[in-house]
Formats: sequence, structure tokens, C-alpha cells
Amino acid sequence: NEKHGFARAHTNIALLKYWGKINSDLILPANDSISLTLDKFYTDTEVTFSDEYTSNLFYLNHQLIDVKKMQRINRVLEAVKSEFGYQGFAKIESENHVPTAAGLASSASGMAALAGAAVSALGSHTDLTNLSRLARLGSGSASRSVFGGIVHWHRGYDHQSSFAEQIVSEDQIDLNMVTIVIDRRQKKVKSTLGMQHTASTSPFYPAWVEATNQAIPEMISAVQNNDFTKIGELAEHSAAMMHATTLSSKPAFTYFAPETIQAIKLVEQLRESGIECYYTIDAGPNVKVLCQSKNITRVKRFFASYFDQDQLVVAKPGSGIKFTKN
Ligand code: DP6
Repeated sequence: NEKHGFARAHTNIALLKYWGKINSDLILPANDSISLTLDKFYTDTEVTFSDEYTSNLFYLNHQLIDVKKMQRINRVLEAVKSEFGYQGFAKIESENHVPTAAGLASSASGMAALAGAAVSALGSHTDLTNLSRLARLGSGSASRSVFGGIVHWHRGYDHQSSFAEQIVSEDQIDLNMVTIVIDRRQKKVKSTLGMQHTASTSPFYPAWVEATNQAIPEMISAVQNNDFTKIGELAEHSAAMMHATTLSSKPAFTYFAPETIQAIKLVEQLRESGIECYYTIDAGPNVKVLCQSKNITRVKRFFASYFDQDQLVVAKPGSGIKFTKN
């Protein structure tokens, strides 16, 4: 009486960032966010439920992880089990396909794939809106990885009202990302902690929440019109504002490394030379450059004269969660 489920979920990059929670148990964010799902980076997860297991087991890239440390994983599993009235334990086998060189976060794809595999093991996986709620309990950004293309996470006010939704599918948007990998190591201040510290100490934080929620309808119409200039301007401003909230928190901190500033200046320089591109930066030093398909080669070539070839990783719009391997 084993029950198997599989899911593949891609990671995503926020264009309008999620930064701060109003409820950390349910992971309810202070503001809405909008993201682009990426094609290259994904997590494959298999979940096996069995009445014979006596505890949950979690293997990440074939290595057993201490499940007591995996509070968020247990939270997702418990939510799925209670929804389907199941009481056994699970074996989770997860593989991250994020090129080690990319230095990109994998909690979004990881938690979305976990929720997807667990749901498909115990029941039907057709309700993707509900799947995004379950993924959210693992990591906020994971709610958006259930869908492909451009995705809107409605902040909501309780478990039911906080979910993600696709705005534009992956084949209808010309938006690509060149990551400049500045540091591959795990970030020092994880996003969960960084956003909590910021939300509770930065005097700029209320302004951040208000400005982001105001920008949401503008971004929705920009992506619906495939207006690259508007998308880029809004995304760059969102990233700059988010990082301003870390510098204004107490004690202040920043995710930027010296090369982060260098890359920002280079993006501005390239844009002034007539190749349209914009930057975005998450809770780490790496800089992601947004550009249209026609400029990918030029953007890569430009940055290759300042950074090593293996520091540059290109990603295109990716698809939503899948329940089979191919
Ligand atoms: C800067 O989703 O990793 O990437 O909900 O605490 O797990 P938790 O945080 P997480 O935060 C992502 C922060 C961000 C912006 C974004 O992806 O919207």
C-alpha cells in the first residue's frame, strides 16, 4: 500500500518582489508580487507515502537530510495529508537541476515540486490554485513556481485568499534573464531572516509595501502588452527599493558585494549605448539582467569582457509544474 507521486517545478525570479510577511506561520506576504518562471532551473521530486514508514525521510540529491531540521517540509506534508485525510509518513527524493554555477535559490522550485508530488501521490493534482497555496506553506516564492510564464501572487489575508495565478503564459512573453554569478556560496542572511529584520526595523518598510502594491496593476498591463521597457523599469525600481529597505534597517545590512555595484553600473552603461536591458537582484549578490531575445547574444558578449564565461547563465521563460518526467 505505497502511494507514489512525482512533480517537476521550475524556479522563478520576482519582477516585483515579495519582501516581508504579515503572518509567518501561514506565510502571508505584506504585498503582492509578480514573477517570471525560468526554463533552465528546476527541481524533480518523488514522494512515496507508506503505512510502513515510521518517520519522514528526505533525500536531497541522494543525500539523507535530517528531517527534524526540515520544519517547512513537514509543514507542507502535514497540510497535504490533512487535506486528503492520510496519516502515514513519506519518503521524499528530491533532485535540484540548478546548474551549480548559477548560484540561484532553489526553495521556490523545491517546495513547489514537493507540494505537487505529495498531492499527486494522495489525490488529484488538477487544482493548481490550491497547489499554489500548499507550496506557499513551504516557501512564499514557491507559490509562484506552480505556474509558467508571468505569475501574480495575491497576498490575501488568510490561507484561502493567498495564492498565485498565471497572467501571461511562457510562449507569449519575450523576457529573458542573464544571471551574472558573483558568489556561488549560500547567502549569509537568508531571505526569511532578512525580510523579517527589514519589516520590523526599517522606517521605509511601509512605503515599500505601498509602492509595490501600487505597481502591481502597472506591471500586469506591461506584461499583457509585452511592453519590455515598462516591465524592465518597474522591475529595476522594485529591486532598488527592496535593497534600500535593507540599508535602512537597524542594524543596516546589504546583500550587495562590490561586484554587484559594478554590474549595476555596467547594465546602465549598456543601456545607454542602446542595448535595452535592466537589472534585478534578490537576497544575494548576483545580478540578473533582463533582456529581449534579440539582445541575449549582445548582452552576454558585453558582460563576458568583465566576467568569466562560466559566471554568465542565460534563462528563458519556463513552464508550470509537471507531473511526469518528460
Ligand atoms: C528576494 O520565498 O525565499 O527572492 O517565504 O521565507 O521562504 P520565505 O522566503 P523566500 O523569499 C524570496 C525573496 C526574494 C523575492 C521574491 O522571490 O519575491
